[in-house]
Amino acid sequence: MTDEVMRAEGIGKRFGPVSALRGIDLAVRRGEILGLIGDNGAGKSTLIKILTGYHQPDSGRLLFEGEQLQLKSVTHARSLGIETVFQDLALINDLPVYLNLHLNKELTYKPLPFLRRAEMKRRACEALDAIGISIPSVTAEVGQLSGGQRQAIAVARSVYSSNVKLLLLDEPLAAMGAKEGGMILRLLTQLKQRGDIAIILIAHNYAQVLDVCDRVNLLQHGEITFDRATKDTSVTELLELVHTEYKVDTA
Ligand SMILES: Nc1ncnc2c1ncn2[C@@H]1O[C@H](COP(=O)(O)OP(=O)(O)O)[C@@H](O)[C@H]1O
Ligand SMILES: [Mg+2]
Repeated sequence: MTDEVMRAEGIGKRFGPVSALRGIDLAVRRGEILGLIGDNGAGKSTLIKILTGYHQPDSGRLLFEGEQLQLKSVTHARSLGIETVFQDLALINDLPVYLNLHLNKELTYKPLPFLRRAEMKRRACEALDAIGISIPSVTAEVGQLSGGQRQAIAVARSVYSSNVKLLLLDEPLAAMGAKEGGMILRLLTQLKQRGDIAIILIAHNYAQVLDVCDRVNLLQHGEITFDRATKDTSVTELLELVHTEYKVDTA
């Protein structure tokens, strides 16, 4: 069986006149964190949305665990163990942490509709402990938490009580201080150490990318122009690549 959780081959995507993706080849393995970098408009989010079943590609194909498949919807992708943390998080601010962790999978006293609150709180504590997230209380409303804590809850929800195989994160560190960003990066490193999850991380801070990722792919104008193990590149090289390409383009 292949170690590759997801492979994209020749993926293309247009929005009207805009070629957002032009023949993307990309692969990510179990236990690997792949960093995806590139300027605004390069196509990073579009690629993630294809890998999570939100958009259909116009060309190319996806192989999940070695088998070609068509992701029909986000729900379909999720049923296979593909989870995405989007920037808008999709958390409900006026619900407590433990209910956010159980959204759409609330525990009830079946067949009675009453919520098993104590059990959900207990499981929420367990889940957060297991991945090393510390928040004041699982009964705190999500809206009262910091940006970093909310992001951590969003990640926790993606990996909690789901059989996650591929975790996609679209700029989870944006608008986050160094300390909070550090918490998310430690969390990703911990998930990586489980060895059975593949992670794709979109981020703009190259130092952080090199710190936490095993490999980095640079996306420029809908094409992957650079694929390298992070140990074989540097912040300087990444900055230069982006800069050089920019000059060529505007010449
Ligand atoms: N739903 C959409 N409709 C039309 N154009 C889109 C849509 N989504 C993305 N695009 C365009 O596709 C290109 C890539 O966008 P995006 O994937 O969001 O880039 P990135 O995430 O790297 O900033 C951009 O030119 C953007 O305007
Ligand atoms: Mg984006």
